[in-house]
Amino acid sequence: MTLGRFIAFEGGEGVGKSTQARLLAEALEAEGKTVLLTREPGGTDGAEAIRTLLLDPPGEGWGARAEALLFAAARSDHVERLVRPGLERGDWVVSDRFIDSSRAYQGFAGGLGDDAIRTLHELGSEGLRPDLTIVLEAPAERIAERLARRDGGTADAIGGRDGDYHARVNAAFRTIAREDPDRFVVIASDATPAEVHARIVEAVTDRLGLRG
Ligand code: TYD
Repeated sequence: MTLGRFIAFEGGEGVGKSTQARLLAEALEAEGKTVLLTREPGGTDGAEAIRTLLLDPPGEGWGARAEALLFAAARSDHVERLVRPGLERGDWVVSDRFIDSSRAYQGFAGGLGDDAIRTLHELGSEGLRPDLTIVLEAPAERIAERLARRDGGTADAIGGRDGDYHARVNAAFRTIAREDPDRFVVIASDATPAEVHARIVEAVTDRLGLRG
């Protein structure tokens, strides 16, 4: 039995998830909630160590299967040591990415398929799902900007994949969200951070009853 609420932010590269996760955490705190703001891959010492392996891989990098297993292992540690204990205490957990990133990147764009990713999640994290997943949708030029920065040599191993890969990721998020409208809300991030934040607060209030 969990007392808290679990909200995840998802979306492709450069859509403003980190900024919006932080703004939502601040808004929830202002409503008197105890908030645990975290991210994936990462959130615990072990998962942060795996993050480094994933984003700056040694040698020739990971194959698709090893990559999916590493994300699942990082998530398992994160869930067991941080997310579940937080929810059991009654915290509002806000995570910058969670399982649906693995579904979109490794499952759909990476070609492993949704069933394989769901199976790993059952094993690794007992299938824990957020109460609400907010998918931020980027305008195409924002994605192009991000990819241009990659060409400047600053991207990580996954952010630096080609435009087709990232187009598949973005399409996958739309499909995933459409298939489960009770758990997902898609929000366009084509406005100022304050405006996008206002849309998010409205959605969270509507779905989870932010106040009271
Ligand atoms: P990050 O710097 O957090 O990217 P962003 O700012 O775009 O959120 O790096 C995380 C990268 O890892 C990002 O490219 C998405 C990818 N990723 C997966 O491929 N699968 C996953 O399950 C998760 C959590 C992230």
